Amino acid sequence: MSLSDLLTHVAPDSPEAALARQVDFARLPKHVAVIMDGNGRWAAERHLPRVEGHRAGIESVRDTVESSARIGIGVLTLYAFSVENWKRPETEVMALMGLLRQYLRSELKTLLKNNIRFTVIGQPDRLSREVREELQAAEARTAGNTGMQFNIALNYGGRAEIVDAAKRAIRSGLPADALDQETFASFLYTAGQPDPDLMIRTSGEMRVSNFLLWQIAYAEIWVTETRWPDFRCRHLLEAIISFQKRDRRYGAVSSHPATVSR
Ligand code: IPE
Ligand code: IPE
Ligand code: MG
Repeated sequence: MSLSDLLTHVAPDSPEAALARQVDFARLPKHVAVIMDGNGRWAAERHLPRVEGHRAGIESVRDTVESSARIGIGVLTLYAFSVENWKRPETEVMALMGLLRQYLRSELKTLLKNNIRFTVIGQPDRLSREVREELQAAEARTAGNTGMQFNIALNYGGRAEIVDAAKRAIRSGLPADALDQETFASFLYTAGQPDPDLMIRTSGEMRVSNFLLWQIAYAEIWVTETRWPDFRCRHLLEAIISFQKRDRRYGAVSSHPATVSR
């Protein structure tokens, strides 16, 4: 996709249009990963039950998925439910699962229309049969799509993923000496996908909360105070613009010694 594509979907004098013009579309992050956080705080700030924050967050998911595809991001991963999130009250967990099903039902058409491939990463076995079936149906319906890949991390834990990958590697019968980083990565849930170059976290926490631990080795991190239900295309564009100003050194010396990395 491109600038002109994006500009047809935003008002000409809007902040989004101004931000879109600052993006270098030839140097987009290949994979953007998002820790969608702050739904509970968003609700508390409005004296609403937590679940209303989750409900409002669906609009942000919709906007982020569509905007990412329009911008031309190759892979988008959204962290929707961690292995640790089972510690929450059962009513909240049930509400989250219900909202997930609602999202899938209402958005499958849009995913198909936008040529988006939907995939689940995590351990689906602990999810209910109804949720698993709907997820599998959405994966199957979008499997042939060739545009953006949209991963949803559900019952996902970074350490659990690494342990699962180790088990798969052992079961594959691969000799220990043949195991290198590239081969190991091929046993992860994200096999074949580029590592995230940009990781976004909403609502201000400076932690990774067990998300994509292997894959974020060299991701650039962008944290915003914006609560997830308020996150929109303009925030995504701000993150991409900030990403494009970073000096990614990968442990080497700077190729632009005068640049200050922000
Ligand atoms: C993110 O919002 C949604 C999930 C983790 C499922 P939170 O529910 O964590 O919101 P806060 O952090 O309590 O504000
Ligand atoms: C991370 O958010 C998990 C998801 C966004 C799904 P949490 O709100 O669960 O993380 P902590 O508890 O602040 O680390
Ligand atoms: Mg949280």
